[in-house]
Amino acid sequence: MSPLYSQFTEALSSSSSPGLFIDQEALDKNIKWVVSNAGSKKIRIATKSIRSVEILKYILQSNSIFQGLMTYSLEEALWLRSLGFKDILMGYPTWDRNQLIDLAKNPSDIILMVDRIEHLELLEDLAQRHQCHFSICVDIDLSMDLPGLRFGVYRSKIHTPTAVKKFLHHLRNSPHLKLVGVMGYEAQIAGVMDDSSKLIQALKKLSLNQLQKRREQFVKLIQKAGHNLAIVNGGGTGSLRHTTKESVVTEVTVGSAFYAPVLFDHYVDFKLTPAMFFSAPIVRKPTESIYTVLGGGYIASGSTDLIKQPTPYLPEGLTLLKHEGAGEVQTPLKYIGKKKLSVGDLVIFRHAKAAEVCERFNQITLIRKNQIENVVKTYRGEGKCFL
Ligand SMILES: Cc1ncc(COP(=O)(O)O)c(C=O)c1O
Repeated sequence: MSPLYSQFTEALSSSSSPGLFIDQEALDKNIKWVVSNAGSKKIRIATKSIRSVEILKYILQSNSIFQGLMTYSLEEALWLRSLGFKDILMGYPTWDRNQLIDLAKNPSDIILMVDRIEHLELLEDLAQRHQCHFSICVDIDLSMDLPGLRFGVYRSKIHTPTAVKKFLHHLRNSPHLKLVGVMGYEAQIAGVMDDSSKLIQALKKLSLNQLQKRREQFVKLIQKAGHNLAIVNGGGTGSLRHTTKESVVTEVTVGSAFYAPVLFDHYVDFKLTPAMFFSAPIVRKPTESIYTVLGGGYIASGSTDLIKQPTPYLPEGLTLLKHEGAGEVQTPLKYIGKKKLSVGDLVIFRHAKAAEVCERFNQITLIRKNQIENVVKTYRGEGKCFL
């Protein structure tokens, strides 16, 4: 039997279940992995992949290479700043006038993401009316277009030097906006699993070469136009080891590496340690080999493949049923493992993505070996729901 299963169940013996928990030793290992692959770059933490103030603080305090946050909503950014967090880069554009007016009252420490003329017009208009200046970062598109295939994601339209120039031209009409950063997220490297496809591995190689040149070209163009860039942000967990080698890059964003969800098991060139789990108690046993747990149906976002279901992880030998999957309030599991299981025992699951599961739980139990070290709140536990 896996020693981890005994360790987890011992630690959780007096906790309520279903419950979310972190293996602190694994989290520490993943933090070390990020540090040892960061090279000379600063690491910005993607809050969407953490969703707990205490865990954000824990990672930030663990090493001085961790500086700043990448947030996913302006409401969230304003809240985190009110709690004392600094150096906040919005990872995505905002169109919420109420939140922008709040920011206009004190625009410090928060940088807004833009990639369209409409973004510039909205922000310039609000900044002018409220007599303030907003700091902005431009999102450049680093995906690779092949005949019949876009290798990358659809985000920004700024894909060519001409598009960069057009954007800079419009920026000249926005005296209340200060361009301080460039971000390019190479999703096709950072977020695409590659361990079962030689084709994807080859496409990644091809795309890496191309995107590095493009990033450098775009950054130089922007600098030549007189913009003093404090931030050149790139990457994510899956591209860390490549993005940190680009001289033009000042920082890399990392989120998923810390909790190491199932989707991040499938990269050829690195291995992380699973750190976040949820437990669910066996409450029924409809047949000799089927065990039904309470809860479990926490499906990850994105294209709805089977891999987006949670994975029954421990004890070994559990699988979801094809026709029921992970259910809204209960999940039947087929069991062929060696350990004798009974009603009342816990099943340990892993989520497909990093922190989406935090939206289902108010708290995270932090365990080290077979002991509880602390219990911290998720964003949801703080009464916050941003997206
Ligand atoms: C802009 C941006 N940067 C970085 C990341 C990387 O996050 P992670 O390390 O969780 O893959 C993401 C995730 O989607 C992102 O949207």
